[in-house]
Amino acid sequence: MIFSAADLANVELWGEITSLLKKRGFLVIKNFLSSEKVKEIKEVMQHSNSSHDFLETILLRNNDEKEIIHKNLFKIIENEKNIKTIDEILQTLKHGAHLTRIDSYKSKKSKKPILEWHNDRAFSGDKIIHNRVQNKLFSYKLFIHITETQKNNGSFSYLPNSNRISTLIRKAFRDGIIKYTPFWKLVDFSDVLKRKEIVDFVDSCFPELKEEIKIFLRVSDNLIINPNSNKYSIPCKQGDAILFDERGLHQGGIPSKSERIILRLFYLNGAGKYKPEPITEYGRNQLNSPVGTFKSPIN
Ligand SMILES: [Fe+2]
Repeated sequence: MIFSAADLANVELWGEITSLLKKRGFLVIKNFLSSEKVKEIKEVMQHSNSSHDFLETILLRNNDEKEIIHKNLFKIIENEKNIKTIDEILQTLKHGAHLTRIDSYKSKKSKKPILEWHNDRAFSGDKIIHNRVQNKLFSYKLFIHITETQKNNGSFSYLPNSNRISTLIRKAFRDGIIKYTPFWKLVDFSDVLKRKEIVDFVDSCFPELKEEIKIFLRVSDNLIINPNSNKYSIPCKQGDAILFDERGLHQGGIPSKSERIILRLFYLNGAGKYKPEPITEYGRNQLNSPVGTFKSPIN
């Protein structure tokens, strides 16, 4: 479903926006940021050495503490009405969500995807985890495109409805239906979904998801064989934004023709109410780290 920036101002559409996010996991907002603002951000970012691993962090908010890290970039967007409106819309959700982080990064022209198919809040595929698996600790992310993307050039992709299947997997771990096993990558995610314990769990507790899971597995089997298929890509013009539930499966495509610059905003579910639940000493040390600054040790 595609919305315009003007739609955001229409309070009557807010319910439709939040229900789409809950059901399908994502939506597109055209012309979210004006071309003037896009140009200003691009000018700063073109001189930056950032990448997906070395981001330009702009703002961090931990409860009431706000830390502005990149003053120049923050100044460009600080009064952006649409950014505030998304915050207001997401606060109407059951648990509420508000802005906790803004950053930006540049992906150079390449023959490889910016990031392969994955879902967030899945411990980056770590074999050993330091915090309990949980569903409520996640963000809605807003990717504002500072450069244009095309189907075969750096576009973001999202598998519709995968957010709810991802939630089901976390619930199965949490309820002890199966022991934690990596599920960050699409292939691992889909393997978990095929396990007998999960099939039985769906049969007895979530029969309404059976058909969706069947469709998902058909799609994921194809994507595993052909990961660069652009069937689910969402090409965007400069200034367009994609709002999505990070628990759904998504990928950053191959920036084959030009570099890609994204301005990224995190709206944390529960507005800081939900914290990591440590199960190791390392996890306990994570508790006081501002959102997004913590890196898991390599294992
Ligand atoms: Fe991601």
